[in-house]
Amino acid sequence: MSVNIALPKGRLADKTLELMKKAGILKKVEDAGRKLVFEDESGFVRYFLVKPWDVPVYVERGVADIGVAGKDIITENTPDVYELLDLKTGKCRMCVCAKNGYVDRPGATLRVATKFVNTAKGYYASMGRRIEIIKLNGSIELAPLMDMSDVIVDLVETGTTLKENDMRVVTIIAEISARLIANKASYRFKREEIDRITSELGALINENN
Ligand code: PRP
Repeated sequence: MSVNIALPKGRLADKTLELMKKAGILKKVEDAGRKLVFEDESGFVRYFLVKPWDVPVYVERGVADIGVAGKDIITENTPDVYELLDLKTGKCRMCVCAKNGYVDRPGATLRVATKFVNTAKGYYASMGRRIEIIKLNGSIELAPLMDMSDVIVDLVETGTTLKENDMRVVTIIAEISARLIANKASYRFKREEIDRITSELGALINENN
């Protein structure tokens, strides 16, 4: 049986495709261009390139049997899928960040800009802090610079964006990396194929880490 795989476009794309190729799951990685669906010449897998936030949607609905999604997105959207493997790539941190020199007023409602609304709400609820969420879709760091928010909850990878904008990490909320996820029904019906892919990827990751 062939396996459908949802892979993320953007930042994680190159790393993920390379990993799949090195593990021998994809025989050849085509130049993506604008094409969205790729039949691998092995005949064993077919893969789609989708927006990172959409990978769990394709996997949860069974259009893709498996996929690669960031732990940030999995935590935020809690899709009903199995998380099979930590791919140990795409590593970054979910953090609370603020402008250098920002001083918190503990009693006040904290204005938090983020695209990770549930993650931010969960984090501050666990500390009993009252917050106002400002939902943004990108360039989150701009919010405190323009005094639209007090802090942000966002991913930090190299720290360059923070540094170039005179900001700092206040708290690390979670360590993030890419995960292999599976549709629950697919995992029953294509167990052998999915286990094979998981163990090939697992062996490669152990070699590299
Ligand atoms: C992410 C994240 C930070 C930045 C962190 O944004 O939201 O802004 O990367 O990376 P760094 O620590 O290496 O500088 P992304 O580039 O994905 O785009 P976005 O701002 O549109 O979300």
